[in-house]
Amino acid sequence: AEEDIAALVSDQHGWVDPRIYTDEALYQLELERVFAKSWLLLGHESQIAKGGDFMTNYMGEDPVLVVRQKDASIRVFLNQCRHRGMRLCRADCGNAKSFTCSYHGWAYDTAGTLVNVPYSECFPTLDKKESGPLQARVETYKGLIFANWDTEAPDLATYLGEARFYMDHMLDRTEAGTVAIPGIQKWVIPCNWKFAAEQFSSDMYHAGTTSHISGILAGLPADKELSDLAPPTEGNQYRALWGGHGAGFYLDDTNLLAAIMGEKVVDYWTKGAAAEKAALRFGATARSRIAPPQHMTVFPNCSLLSGVNTIRMWHPRGPNEMEVWTFTVVDADASDEIKDEYRRHTIRTFSAGGVFEQDDGENWVEVQQILKGYKARSRPFVVSMGIGRDEGSHPDYPGRIGYVYNENAARGFYTHWARMMTSPNWAALNQTRPGSENELDSNGIH
Ligand code: FES
Ligand code: FE
Repeated sequence: AEEDIAALVSDQHGWVDPRIYTDEALYQLELERVFAKSWLLLGHESQIAKGGDFMTNYMGEDPVLVVRQKDASIRVFLNQCRHRGMRLCRADCGNAKSFTCSYHGWAYDTAGTLVNVPYSECFPTLDKKESGPLQARVETYKGLIFANWDTEAPDLATYLGEARFYMDHMLDRTEAGTVAIPGIQKWVIPCNWKFAAEQFSSDMYHAGTTSHISGILAGLPADKELSDLAPPTEGNQYRALWGGHGAGFYLDDTNLLAAIMGEKVVDYWTKGAAAEKAALRFGATARSRIAPPQHMTVFPNCSLLSGVNTIRMWHPRGPNEMEVWTFTVVDADASDEIKDEYRRHTIRTFSAGGVFEQDDGENWVEVQQILKGYKARSRPFVVSMGIGRDEGSHPDYPGRIGYVYNENAARGFYTHWARMMTSPNWAALNQTRPGSENELDSNGIH
């Protein structure tokens, strides 16, 4: 029942019921009410630059084709043949004039229209125009391609809301925009997708303790001491007013970026022409003070680390498994040397074999394994960090802002998850928005 689902998460008291990570029935509802109703990241425009360029991806567990059209628009449709449901395209990416199903040979053009059926005279009732795969809505934000199955969902800009401010920290440093470094890394790990999405929305906490310290030490430039890496006292966390997004950042301090990405990348972000251009575009000094890496999740399953410039999709694969897809972007007008620094350092740090990725994955996978235990699932997890501390609006940073070591964005993530899980459609979901009939209180709590 919906009351039971709402009771799995407490924003007010700061806890979540661990069964949200393990329950198969909840997972099936999640595919329907979260993944089939949200704007989901599918890649970067530069990955399908020319007409006929395509890549395959997933929206939840639904396979999709993302195809650049001749008129430069982008279409996203179910990667499923209408005849008997075979996967239409089994390549990761490429350039195509049409997609021919390998089972009985039905062929679709790049827009997803059925154009050829072998022995079509044997299908006297078949209307080819009506027999294409399901099409999703497509919109882009500063190079990132998003799609949504739900015709009632708000447009992408409304969906992102003030999260765009934080996305711009990585995507809008130059009028040239960003390009994706070729290649998407993909791997499967046995844990629920929400561990990763929540951590990137909210958790600066783990980076300052044992989780990442060995990787930080390994990457520390020779002239820096560990004491230089004491957590800065200044930093903020963003929780979406509504919508489940979250981000967090230190102010000014770039030692963490130096340990992850090396001095050349730090210099690129903080000194010289590119840094000056970014500062001008950002306008307010306060905004320029956001120190990379800024962690961020765009609800539900897209995460970004500005400065590191890794972008990921946490694809659900059942309650106990996820498939991680990541790629790296870099300013389109950066030098080849900087682009190569980004390529090498994101492989070393945040990739299938990356030193920081290993730390995070180890924690998530072990938590999931422990949750096989009956008793281990019997009591809620604590998500109360920052409750009762000064939280609210900020003159320079949009959304609900608190101290950087906080679990407020995690509470926002789970609260929005529960809203979506208990709302059969967007009309019902919109009722929970600030200013709507079921108004949230001044803290944004329903
Ligand atoms: Fe595609 Fe039959 S399943 S042609
Ligand atoms: Fe981490």
